[in-house]
Amino acid sequence: MMKRLTVSLPGRDYEILTGRGLLDSAGEACRAVLPGAARIGIVTDSNVGPLYAGRLVRSLESAGFQTAVITVPAGERSKSMAMLEQVYDELLAFGLTRSDAVAALGGGVVGDLAGFAAATLLRGVDLIQVPTTLLAQVDSSVGGKVAVDLKAGKNLAGAFWQPKLVLMDPDCLDTLSDAVFADGMAEVIKYGCIADSKLLSRLAAAPGRAAVMEYVEELLTTCCQIKRGLVEQDERDTGARMLLNFGHTLGHAYELAGGYETYTHGQAVAAGMCRAADLGVRLGISPPEVSGRIAALVRAFGLPDAIACTMADYAAAVGLDKKGDKDQITLILLSELGRAVPWKTEKSKVLHLLEELAL
Ligand SMILES: NC(=O)c1ccc[n+]([C@@H]2O[C@H](COP(=O)([O-])OP(=O)(O)OC[C@H]3O[C@@H](n4cnc5c(N)ncnc54)[C@H](O)[C@@H]3O)[C@@H](O)[C@H]2O)c1
Ligand SMILES: [Zn+2]
Repeated sequence: MMKRLTVSLPGRDYEILTGRGLLDSAGEACRAVLPGAARIGIVTDSNVGPLYAGRLVRSLESAGFQTAVITVPAGERSKSMAMLEQVYDELLAFGLTRSDAVAALGGGVVGDLAGFAAATLLRGVDLIQVPTTLLAQVDSSVGGKVAVDLKAGKNLAGAFWQPKLVLMDPDCLDTLSDAVFADGMAEVIKYGCIADSKLLSRLAAAPGRAAVMEYVEELLTTCCQIKRGLVEQDERDTGARMLLNFGHTLGHAYELAGGYETYTHGQAVAAGMCRAADLGVRLGISPPEVSGRIAALVRAFGLPDAIACTMADYAAAVGLDKKGDKDQITLILLSELGRAVPWKTEKSKVLHLLEELAL
């Protein structure tokens, strides 16, 4: 059974289709949203391409599209200006025109890189997101943020470029490593924390990858519905969308502490959510049980509930936070499990509280 969710944005509505085996009917679905396109340039990475590009190519070709597969090395390093230029060159060599499209087949790295290429090449061509990691399916493929990393930092060159269609085949998740699956679970838990306490109870009742895969289509739809709601209210990320940052500001400190190598994004966010929960409890904004429940849940999915870091790392993360202006910062806290609230305060106050928590 295929699930269908519409993201409604002024003049740019698009659908998120979710279904096991959907990869094999991608052609039909793409033809419906790209009636006049002749070519689709598929951007993928060196892990995903060998596993899934063949099926996508066959399905697209049977719907009358010409295809080319552009494969970048797997990993965050490919989200670079150098790789972007290579992708532009290969898409142009393939003969891509403004009436054609780019498909991103892979995780968030490919989605962000191919998405930014689509947003900018020839002043913008249509984009199809075909996310293959849990993180990309619940988070990065929806909402239109696309970017590459610069030497100065992650995601610093980017755009808002909504896809024409998002195609999610949960069968693709079967080939993920446990670590990459757990990374996506951190974002799933985040959605539960900010917007859906029932989701948290369901995850806690039967934790683990196998149990989650039993109802994965429903899970993906639940998460995408939450993200869709926030994106529809705040496409450009100046308000409601910031609730998605729960766990991310403090998570950033752990990413810094590990030099972006030691801890994965999901691990850092998991520990960040736990620390943010502690702050909420400490401030009397969250009920006391919130901390323990989030910590137990992240541990049940193989994620850390704490990561050691220095006050300097916290200071850097708080200072660098994109949402903070001047000396103020907005942290996302929980007023209860399943409900997030922005909390605006002095950066120094956050540091002070974190110091106290560490004692
Ligand atoms: N645009 C957004 O809104 C947004 C949101 C969150 C994260 N991101 C970005 O997403 C990126 C992280 O995404 P990610 O966690 O998906 O990482 P990723 O794209 O690097 O994928 C993780 C690993 O899994 C492999 N892989 C992907 N699909 C697979 C499959 N089906 N089977 C086997 N292996 C597979 C990849 O090759 C890679 O080695 C970061 O760059 C982050 O900045 C963007
Ligand atoms: Zn995240």
